[in-house]
Amino acid sequence: MKKFLSVHDAPDIQALIDQALAYKKNPRLSQTLGAGKRIGLLFLNPSMRTRLSTQIAAQNLGMEAIVFNVGQDGWALEFEEEAIMSGTTVEHVKEAAPILGRYFDVLGIRTFPSLKNKEEDYQELYINQFVKYCGIPVISLESATLHPLQSLTDLITITESFHAERKPKIALTWAPHVKALPQCVANSFAQWVNAWGKADFTIAYPEDYELDEKFTAGAKLTHHQEEALHEADFVYVKNWSTYTDYGRIYCNDPKWMLTNKKLEGTRNAKVMHCLPVRRNVELSDEVLDGANSLVTQQAANRVWAAQAVLTELLKGANHTPNE
Ligand code: CP
Repeated sequence: MKKFLSVHDAPDIQALIDQALAYKKNPRLSQTLGAGKRIGLLFLNPSMRTRLSTQIAAQNLGMEAIVFNVGQDGWALEFEEEAIMSGTTVEHVKEAAPILGRYFDVLGIRTFPSLKNKEEDYQELYINQFVKYCGIPVISLESATLHPLQSLTDLITITESFHAERKPKIALTWAPHVKALPQCVANSFAQWVNAWGKADFTIAYPEDYELDEKFTAGAKLTHHQEEALHEADFVYVKNWSTYTDYGRIYCNDPKWMLTNKKLEGTRNAKVMHCLPVRRNVELSDEVLDGANSLVTQQAANRVWAAQAVLTELLKGANHTPNE
C-alpha cells in the first residue's frame, strides 16, 4: 500500500480487518516492523481519538510518531497552484511537503472541508497536494470528504460484534446537530460498507440531506428512519450537513434523535457513533449510557485499524529517511 486516502487504497478490506483483530489480540505482534521509521501526524483541525490512537499504533510497531498541530503552531499553508501569496498564507505546500518527506517515512494528515465550496472540498485539494509533493506514503486522518481510518474501525467493530450466520443489517441514520458538519464520516462509512459487500445496508435521512451517489451507490436509501431501523443489527448515528445545496442545515428535527423506544423495532441493535457526540441532540443519554452502545469499543478499535494500515504502508514503503 502506497497511500491510504479511501477504500480504493485498500486492496483487501477483509485482510485489513483480520490484521487489525490479530493486533487487538496481540498488540506487539510486529513490534519491530517500524523500527527506525518516523511518522509525522499533521493536524490542521482538532482531534482526540485519531491523534492518540495513531500514535499508539505507531508505537506498537516500534515507530516514532511526532505530532504537529499545523492549525495552531505552523505557518499558514497555501495549497493553490500559482497562488499570489499576498494574503494570509505564509508557506506553500510545494515547499512544506517535500521537507516533511525528508523528515518522515509516513505522513498522516487531518484536514477538514471548508463547507463553503463543494467543488474545492470534493477535489480534496489539501491532502492531494501533500500526496503530490511529499514523496512518501500519506495516510488520511480525515480529509475534506472521507474518514477511512474511522470506517475501517467501524467494520472491525461490526465484525467482532456479529456472530449470526447471515449478513448483518446495518442502518446509517442522520441525526440532528447544532452546527453544519462535514459529510466525511457518512460518505466514508457508506463507501466502505458498500465495497465490503457483506451487509444489508440502508441509509436514512430527511429530505435534502442526500449524500453524493458515488459513495452511497449500492445502499438502500429512505427518508423514513423507522424503515431503516426495522430489524437492524447495527444503527450508525451521524449528523451531516446538506450535500446538494452545500454545507447547510435545513432540518434539525429532534424526532430524528435515536432513543430506546426506536430501538424496539430493531434486532436489539448495537448503536455506533464515531464521536465526539452531542448528547441529547444527536444521541440520547439513555442510548449512549445503555447496554447497546458500542461507542467506547468502537473508539478503542481505532488503534488496531491504524496499526493494520500502518503495517501495510510500512511494507509498501521503500523510502529511506533523510536521504
Ligand atoms: N472519530 C474521530 O475522528 O475522533 P477525533 O476527531 O477525536 O479524532
